Amino acid sequence: MAAREIQTFVLAERPTGNVEVGKTFKMEKGPAPTADQLKDGEILVEALYALLRSPVAIGEKMRGASVAKVLASKNANVKEGSLVTGFTGWTEVAILGDKQFEVVELPEGAEVTDALGVLGMTGLTAYFGLLRIGKPQKGDTVVVSGAAGATGSVVAQIAKLKGCRVVGIAGTDDKCAWLKSDLGLDEALNYKSPTFKADFAKATPDYINVYYDNVGGEILDLALARAAFRARFVMCGSISGYNNPNKEASAGIKNLFNVTAQRIHMEGFIVFDFLADYAEGRRELSQWLADGSLKRKATIVKGGLQQAEQAFSHLFEGKNTGKLLVEVKPYEANVGGSRL
Ligand SMILES: NC(=O)c1ccc[n+]([C@@H]2O[C@H](COP(=O)([O-])OP(=O)(O)OC[C@H]3O[C@@H](n4cnc5c(N)ncnc54)[C@H](OP(=O)(O)O)[C@@H]3O)[C@@H](O)[C@H]2O)c1
Repeated sequence: MAAREIQTFVLAERPTGNVEVGKTFKMEKGPAPTADQLKDGEILVEALYALLRSPVAIGEKMRGASVAKVLASKNANVKEGSLVTGFTGWTEVAILGDKQFEVVELPEGAEVTDALGVLGMTGLTAYFGLLRIGKPQKGDTVVVSGAAGATGSVVAQIAKLKGCRVVGIAGTDDKCAWLKSDLGLDEALNYKSPTFKADFAKATPDYINVYYDNVGGEILDLALARAAFRARFVMCGSISGYNNPNKEASAGIKNLFNVTAQRIHMEGFIVFDFLADYAEGRRELSQWLADGSLKRKATIVKGGLQQAEQAFSHLFEGKNTGKLLVEVKPYEANVGGSRL
């Protein structure tokens, strides 16, 4: 039988601005890895839904995680047909070593894509970044940038659950309306509005106790200028500077001295720093999801892995609300809709 041919995306050239479809990435076709190549502890998986991450070296497979179905297993802890999450990269079929995946156990009411979203790395990033670094107190003013995105929308909701006054920042009026009407934020500001600076000051009359930063750049600078005494700045990401060497995330930062003047605690983190506590985070996130106090939205780009490069550019153009995922292969069609 002829080997199955699969698609994989590699980095063709490093973008100097936004990613360019058909230029930044190159799709390579080749034979899929097979079960007879598995070594002890490894599993062979087929990606169902993928989230997309960069950066990598030129010619290397693009990074990303997916929720995937196990096609074959040489790992005693995983059976064929199970669902796992793992770092497959932008490809359709991959072999994962025993430390490269987690078995998916979805609580009642959860959807398969939640394994990458609210119950996966996204939710955990929001949970630990806000609660362990931001340490929000009841009545605090919490400002979240990238608030309508995957991480930001979870952060904003947890801050509301903790009794804070929450101001979200996003790039369209529709996203701002969603943040206020569906997620219950106190204020939502469009950073592309010509009145944004004034709106920001008006929305933070008591200044900012916790700023959760997903974007960096000028929005971070405005937040520094509005920081309250002993504010906590959670440095989660700087998407405004990721692809553009001439417009780094630090560009436009003029208010750094406020870190000293206001005794700001500014701390960066990577979600893996909290690996030992993932179970605790997932338990609480699952509970909030089950009782309806945590809502999620996913923007799912359908049409297979070939949509990955277009989808990736959506992240920088703000076309997603909530988690952006590529449907490599629909879940229902794959596993007959069976639950775990
Ligand atoms: N520290 C960690 O462990 C960790 C883990 C995961 C993710 N992250 C970081 O968390 C951040 C959010 O990631 P995510 O996966 O949840 O993505 P996301 O927020 O779902 O999507 C990115 C959003 O960023 C906004 N954006 C894009 N360019 C922007 C710009 N120049 N200025 C302001 N906003 C811009 C867009 O929304 P608008 O329409 O609002 O512009 C876009 O929808 C990223 O910086 C990511 O690197 C960190």
